[in-house]
Amino acid sequence: MPARLEIEGGVPLRGSVRVSAAKNAALPALAAALLTPEPVVLTNAPALADVRTMAKLLETLGGTVVHEGGELRARVPRVTNDLAPYELVSTMRASVLVLGPLVARHGSARVALPGGCAIGVRPIDQHLKGLARLGAEVTIENGYVIARASRLKGARIATDLVTVTGTENLMMAAALAEGTTVIENAACEPEVSDLAALLNRMGARIHGAGTARLEIQGVAELAGATHRIVADRIEAGTLIVAGAITRGDVTVTDLVPDHLASVLSKLEEIGVALEVGPTSVRVRGPERPRAADVTTSPFPGFPTDMQAQVMTLLGLADGQSRVTETIFENRFMHVAELARMGARIATDGSIAVIRGVPAYQGAPVMASDLRASAALVLAGLAAHGQTVVSRVYHLDRGYERLEAKLGALGARITRRP
Ligand code: EPZ
Repeated sequence: MPARLEIEGGVPLRGSVRVSAAKNAALPALAAALLTPEPVVLTNAPALADVRTMAKLLETLGGTVVHEGGELRARVPRVTNDLAPYELVSTMRASVLVLGPLVARHGSARVALPGGCAIGVRPIDQHLKGLARLGAEVTIENGYVIARASRLKGARIATDLVTVTGTENLMMAAALAEGTTVIENAACEPEVSDLAALLNRMGARIHGAGTARLEIQGVAELAGATHRIVADRIEAGTLIVAGAITRGDVTVTDLVPDHLASVLSKLEEIGVALEVGPTSVRVRGPERPRAADVTTSPFPGFPTDMQAQVMTLLGLADGQSRVTETIFENRFMHVAELARMGARIATDGSIAVIRGVPAYQGAPVMASDLRASAALVLAGLAAHGQTVVSRVYHLDRGYERLEAKLGALGARITRRP
């Protein structure tokens, strides 16, 4: 039986907890190591399953990756293999982030089409269209993307929709292209800005990071660099909701409050008391949350990666709330499990209507994807009785020792192998 978490709910969390570095910044940063023969050093890389998977992928491509004492050193002296195999890509879609760097550095790439996942089909057509605009010859054969280019050429690219890893893939490819690239409709997520900061430290010339218009002046080669990864705004948001849903008093530190502005203002609307400092947030949970409506959208809007967590809080609110998920087509997998704990949630396509209940009942529940499993842990912390969350390997992909962090705040939570 896969590992599971046993939670005795009802304990108000108290104390302070530090946020780890962002998974969704660490993964593109690792892929960026493909762009140079010199070492890329990430000084605070999180110990996550997905980081280990990306490290393994780099090693199959000719790299070496050493993760010691929080510092991760990645180096790809030469690309000895341009194949990202299906068995790796199918376990982690972010593997697609090696596509742009491989074509830019090595001139060719064979990357398995990632296929769908629990939350949706998740195509990569925008990645491929952008690479073709940069002059790559892109074909799809037997479930693999085959991309080739002797030297990419700068171009004007306008993606049809905002795509985080699509923007990151194209930014990395353009960094070594000949001439200037402009990416319109670029993603503005903090993780995109963090990658741009790393690339510029490696010698790239990227302007406009954090805005919808990126300008990248290609250079002939990039050097190694040392980089501190930005704090994980989604882990921070998850920990803040943990303090709120347990009616606790928790200070979450080492975060960037501006990266969570939309989440913090929504939580205040729900009645959560927040004290926001330069790098920390103190949260005190209300006796009972107030109902509120939430619609997810690209940064700086309310992040889809916080949708399941805030829905769990609204499930206990006094009144009716509506949650509209605009980014992914199937990101309500947590609803059925929350219902087993007493939540009253009805979904219709991308809209969920939540009628708050006074309390959740502990129950055995099953994780389905990374953020849904975080939501189930939050529900368990608030529930009366015991909750057992199974298939926590989903959780381990994106949260570093979550049960240890919550336990240090007083939660009664145990990992069973
Ligand atoms: C990134 O995924 C994150 N992953 C996701 O976090 C996050 O939920 C998502 O951005 C949205 O913020 C990483 O950064 C590793 P998208 P990504 O491309 O880049 C459609 C987590 O929990 N689309 O911004 O794959 C797509 O289907 C994970 O940490 C196309 O149609 O997301 C989706 O509906 C989950 N064609 C929407 O756009 C494309 O070529 C946004 O996807 C690309 C995307």
